[in-house]
Amino acid sequence: MGNLSKNGTTFSCVYIPSKVLIFMCVSGHTNGESIVKVFHRHGPCFRDKTVTLAPSLTEVIAHDQSRVDSIHARLTRKLNTNKLKQHEANVPVKSGRTLNSGNYVVTVGLGTPARTLTLVLDTGSDLTWTQCQPCIRSCYKQQEPIFNPSASSSYSNISCNSAQCSQLASATGNKPGCLSDSTCLYLIQYGDQSFTIGYLSKDKLTISADLVVPNFLFGCGQDNQGLFGSTAGLIGLGRDALSLVSQTAPQFGKYFSYCLPSVSSSTGYLSLGKSAASNNVHFTPFAGSQGTSFYFIDIIAITVGGRQLSINQSVFKTAGTIIDSGTVITRLPPGAYSVMSSVFKQQMAKYPSAPSYSILDTCFDLSSITTVTIPKVAFTFGGNVVVDLAPSGILIAVNSSTVCLAFAANNDPTDVGIFGNTQQKTLEVVYDVAGGNLGFGPAGCR
Ligand SMILES: *[C@@H]1O[C@H](CO)[C@@H](O)[C@H](O)[C@H]1NC(C)=O
Ligand SMILES: *[C@@H]1O[C@H](CO)[C@@H](O)[C@H](O)[C@H]1NC(C)=O
Ligand SMILES: *[C@@H]1O[C@H](CO)[C@@H](O)[C@H](O)[C@H]1NC(C)=O
Repeated sequence: MGNLSKNGTTFSCVYIPSKVLIFMCVSGHTNGESIVKVFHRHGPCFRDKTVTLAPSLTEVIAHDQSRVDSIHARLTRKLNTNKLKQHEANVPVKSGRTLNSGNYVVTVGLGTPARTLTLVLDTGSDLTWTQCQPCIRSCYKQQEPIFNPSASSSYSNISCNSAQCSQLASATGNKPGCLSDSTCLYLIQYGDQSFTIGYLSKDKLTISADLVVPNFLFGCGQDNQGLFGSTAGLIGLGRDALSLVSQTAPQFGKYFSYCLPSVSSSTGYLSLGKSAASNNVHFTPFAGSQGTSFYFIDIIAITVGGRQLSINQSVFKTAGTIIDSGTVITRLPPGAYSVMSSVFKQQMAKYPSAPSYSILDTCFDLSSITTVTIPKVAFTFGGNVVVDLAPSGILIAVNSSTVCLAFAANNDPTDVGIFGNTQQKTLEVVYDVAGGNLGFGPAGCR
């Protein structure tokens, strides 16, 4: 039992074993249970300024689907061709929703003097890039001033003949280009509409006041298009040699962790280096990376409301699963999603159902309901690591009256599953890349 007071209104809550309780419109913690915001136009907290509907969720989801399609395409391509000193640095992570992105962002400094840039945190890609003046072809509108290499005394272009230029092929999936003055060109495509093209460059990266990476290799984008919101670009945390993780391996030993906040008013973190990992973190071994830079993990089981779903193990084994900070909604093999959806519906039977919203097809109409109790959802990963999802990782509010189960099915059983950022919210997620383990801990941030 617990009480929560907000704007003079007190909401009481009842704790039901194996269930999590959700208050309409309120976010916070009570008795160790996190409470997610669910929007309700007629609810008691509608006037709360923190309650704003997510802008363009339809676009966020459409973009998400393009990203998932491109991940599937990359993997299919790859598979067909078969193919320390321990410091610690902490960077705050914020929800990118205010920047019109379904992703999470960190703010870093680039160049001398350092210019502030807000970049999307992406474990599903490798090369870090930012839009660069003079934007020869095109730059989209970003919140901060666009990085100007000629105003940085530590900037330089990388030449086509260098080893770093050749590394682009694996980091981006595209062969590097070469200008007549021997400047190395990169191209990255993320999905149908998103791409960046520019110079492979190096400059000083300031991760935090006392943490500087001199000669950091990144893409200086001269033609940038797609759905990056108003962020300045992207920070690549994949396994490839050009990723931030690999470039900082001498300092940080390929060890990083993050927490993605559940509400845009909250702040999570990105931490490089082996921190005093909390005791609550449990490690699952990475599964084989199939020759890619993705982080594969094994899903063993899914539990809904304390009940283990009856899903044949081979359903998860067929294509495997990656964890990705850049995919918003978790994608499951169709044979797993259908079981999850039907069990979730059974356990939510007392709430009226609502029509599908884009790829989300397990939806509920809460327009006449003030509090809702939802079943807990837990994932079991290899090594019997059980991860309880936060309420914000189970349901997503799609408009003022409707919430949907925040999972979707892949079209094809042979498409890789993706454990996305909605489901990672509030968890401490630890990547021990060198040690081959991925850790999950509860309540890393709120
Ligand atoms: C980098 O290469 C571009 C394209 O050739 C050129 O315009 C620019 O001046 C170069 N920058 C530096 C600092 O060499
Ligand atoms: C699981 O699926 C595999 C492959 O389709 C099948 O051979 C096996 O019998 C199934 N196991 C169970 C317990 O249904
Ligand atoms: C909310 O979304 C659902 C599902 O797409 C739709 O049926 C409903 O009409 C929407 N309601 C409002 C108020 O926009």
